[in-house]
Amino acid sequence: MVKQSPVPVPLPTRPAAPAKPLESLGAYPRIRMRRNRADGWSRALMAENVLTAGDLIWPVFVHDKDGRAPIPSMPGVDRLGLGPLVEAAGEARALGIPAIAIFPATQPERKTEDGDEALNPDNLVCQAVRAIKKHYPDIGVMCDVALDPFTTHGHDGLVRDGVIVNDETVAVLCRQALVQAEAGCDIISPSDMMDGRVGAIRDTLDRAGYEHVRIMSYAAKYASAFYGPFRDAIGAVSNSKGNKRDKRSYQMDPANTDEALREVALDLAEGADMVMVKPGLPYLDVVRRVKDSFGVPTYAYMVSGEYAMLMAAGQNGWMDSDAAMMEALLGFKRAGADGVLTYYAVEAAKRIKAG
Ligand code: PBG
Repeated sequence: MVKQSPVPVPLPTRPAAPAKPLESLGAYPRIRMRRNRADGWSRALMAENVLTAGDLIWPVFVHDKDGRAPIPSMPGVDRLGLGPLVEAAGEARALGIPAIAIFPATQPERKTEDGDEALNPDNLVCQAVRAIKKHYPDIGVMCDVALDPFTTHGHDGLVRDGVIVNDETVAVLCRQALVQAEAGCDIISPSDMMDGRVGAIRDTLDRAGYEHVRIMSYAAKYASAFYGPFRDAIGAVSNSKGNKRDKRSYQMDPANTDEALREVALDLAEGADMVMVKPGLPYLDVVRRVKDSFGVPTYAYMVSGEYAMLMAAGQNGWMDSDAAMMEALLGFKRAGADGVLTYYAVEAAKRIKAG
């Protein structure tokens, strides 16, 4: 019997440049590239990539209060109470956005060294999942698996003698995933970058009868400054200089892409249904390599700092941030992403609908 390869074998990389020099396909003045660009209708015919509402996943922040609260570093994004959250889910669904990702701003008094609140079946995340599923059962709900919203130190895992311990963390993450699946979560999304967590979570879910619950792993997640506003949004430790959490012992080095392919291969072998690259815009090369190498459902997360940059420039009148948003989102499709997690999901879907 042929021995099965333990990891997916990467497909050959993209075809090399055409054998003939491009000049042989013709030249100016017979060839005029501007002819096809001259009118809207021919630009539409020529478009190689298209962004639809169906490509978008909307990350939302929930808090334990009734209404909405603005997040200063993410203009236009609010923390939502359960009422506004359900309304938001309805709006997303009406616009054709397939899924929502939920992130909790955990009450400070519920945070502990070990993040036990992550395992509370009645925590904010689980309440949010149940509320959305009750009103809109056919919208996909995704939940992060990581401890940072629940720990006093803001790390994604357990800290023992200053070290973020792997295996002990994975055991807790499995329980966190189970609690979220029980609440009705459709996509479990480990964002912690511990080794072996995807396989352990998959086994845990399967043993409990949740074999239908999907896993989208943050497979290539980089240690990034672009997460700054997110840490404000969930009320994690300050993102200001001098007080930021150093996650480089578990998140990836921005210098690397081969390592990203290895991470993706491992997560797929462990049972990930979909993989994600994060952040987005500075890592489009990674998205392209992952898509070309594995041909699996591949997503990118346009993170809080990317959103904040565009919004800040727009608010200063330095550029048209709506147009920049659409251009950036299309860039993800061009790079090979099947979908994008973006705080712009609703705005983009509205623009797409308006045509
Ligand atoms: C938690 C998590 C983070 C983000 C998503 N999940 C922050 C981090 O790893 O520090 C960032 C999302 C964003 O910046 O928009 N592990």
